[in-house]
Amino acid sequence: MTNMPTLPPEIASPEIRRRRTFAIISHPDAGKTTLTEKFLLFGGAIQMAGQVRAKGEARRTRSDFMKIEADRGISVSASAMSFDYRQYRFNLVDTPGHSDFSEDTYRTLTAVDAAIMVIDGAKGVESQTQKLFEVCRLRDLPILTFCNKMDRESRDTFEIIDEIQENLAIDVTPASWPIGVGRDFIGAYDLLHDRLEIMDRADRNKVAESIKISGLDDPNLADHVPADLLQKFREEIEMARELLPAFNRQAFLEGHLTPIWFGSAINSFGVKELMDGMGEYGPQPQPQKAAERQISADEKAVAGFVFKVQANMDAKHRDRVAFVRLASGHFERGMKLIHVRSKKPMAITNPVMFLAADRELAEEAWAGDIIGIPNHGQLRIGDALTEGEMLHFTGIPSFAPELLSGVRALDPMKAKHLEKALMQFAEEGAAKVFKPMIGSGFIVGVVGQLQFEVLASRIEQEYSLPVRFEPSNFTSARWVAGAKDEMDKMINVNKGHIALDNDGDTVFLTRLKWDIDRIERDYPKLKLTATKEMM
Ligand code: G4P
Repeated sequence: MTNMPTLPPEIASPEIRRRRTFAIISHPDAGKTTLTEKFLLFGGAIQMAGQVRAKGEARRTRSDFMKIEADRGISVSASAMSFDYRQYRFNLVDTPGHSDFSEDTYRTLTAVDAAIMVIDGAKGVESQTQKLFEVCRLRDLPILTFCNKMDRESRDTFEIIDEIQENLAIDVTPASWPIGVGRDFIGAYDLLHDRLEIMDRADRNKVAESIKISGLDDPNLADHVPADLLQKFREEIEMARELLPAFNRQAFLEGHLTPIWFGSAINSFGVKELMDGMGEYGPQPQPQKAAERQISADEKAVAGFVFKVQANMDAKHRDRVAFVRLASGHFERGMKLIHVRSKKPMAITNPVMFLAADRELAEEAWAGDIIGIPNHGQLRIGDALTEGEMLHFTGIPSFAPELLSGVRALDPMKAKHLEKALMQFAEEGAAKVFKPMIGSGFIVGVVGQLQFEVLASRIEQEYSLPVRFEPSNFTSARWVAGAKDEMDKMINVNKGHIALDNDGDTVFLTRLKWDIDRIERDYPKLKLTATKEMM
């Protein structure tokens, strides 16, 4: 006997039920920025293509990045964008593209319920797509696939689908089928609605002409598709229907099956169908896990967690914006919420939401939405805000850095300032900062070299403090947890290896992986880990 698949229960609140919170993942250059822009265009959030100034971070050179960083408003507004499309409210959360920022990306993906994977029709699944996909898989996120740039020479449709199935080990079902390739690409057949979509090459912002078709034998097809293409495409669809799985919402929502649309973002082709797919099949706001229990979006009480902190949007005021994913309830501006870590109430008077390039006061928000809360450093990644329940959301990890470096203020009188700056970046999640037990300096840990450069530049700009990063004796860091007696013993004989992170948690630093095994062997009641839950 097999278990009948059951779809998750419908959420009762219509406002929550209509929300779709998602991210777009892709390899640089596949078309994420262009697609985002078309989403905003069709969502009515912008009037004209070309308004989204923040380009895919991945394509930025270092100096581009600094420029953007200097103009923090732009990168902040691109962090989470809300807009209405048909009866749906879309919350599109930006994932930083550069691989050096993968930890930030990972955390961003904890705030969404689904992802759109964009691939280039000529290049297929590329390295960064693969990496980001694996992160989505860890969380069983449902994935919609958009195969972009079909207006150019691209690979054979079956080949693209095979590559996704093989490289990513996920079933693929065609939601549309392309007709012709490259210069001969004329449009696609919408397999979910039996429609023919014809691309308009003359007007890039125009939505395709849509022709209702009653099945592949409809004589109407021949009026729109040249005879040679028609025959090939009929054969292909027959084969596809035989060989590929049909759409199954349950399998999609569980992350086992991805529907794929073929289109051209720059020509606005296939974009609306993809948006329709997100609206019709995409998940409603999903339950969020806390150590205590699971929080369902439908619950009355407001609860949410910080997944990202962005600092110094205004260099003169050291304000930060904490991005909060609402897990449940109906939030209204001015509400007093409990900041669980400090157990203190916080009046949320100036929450913001982002509509393309504008920041707006959020008068209200619902489970699934992302709101930005300006604050002076009280809010950190992983923090919970609730109406009183002491919840600790889980699944927001901190990863051990892969590169460690010492840091020194060029002006030795400014050591205190340096400490303050470093703590800020640590809380923002931009770097790990360790204070060794022995000695006076700090050790900074990051995932990629570019982060050191960005940090040095930000410390100089935001704190007028020139600094130098210097080689460190250590290459690995591990958090240590376990029985206090063993912990004290271990610390006592390894003082030169011990540091505290910015939360005051104990860290073991070393340059030999072997050392880590040794500690675990000698102190069986201790655990050394490369990740730490932020809660
Ligand atoms: P990214 O954010 O994923 O890095 O990609 P982005 O949207 O910036 O697109 C990368 C390049 O691909 C851009 O060209 C963009 O115009 C082009 N592109 C996007 N969608 C399509 C499409 O459907 N068909 C074709 N042929 N090209 C597409 P660029 O020359 O690098 O930049 P730009 O000068 O056009 O801005």
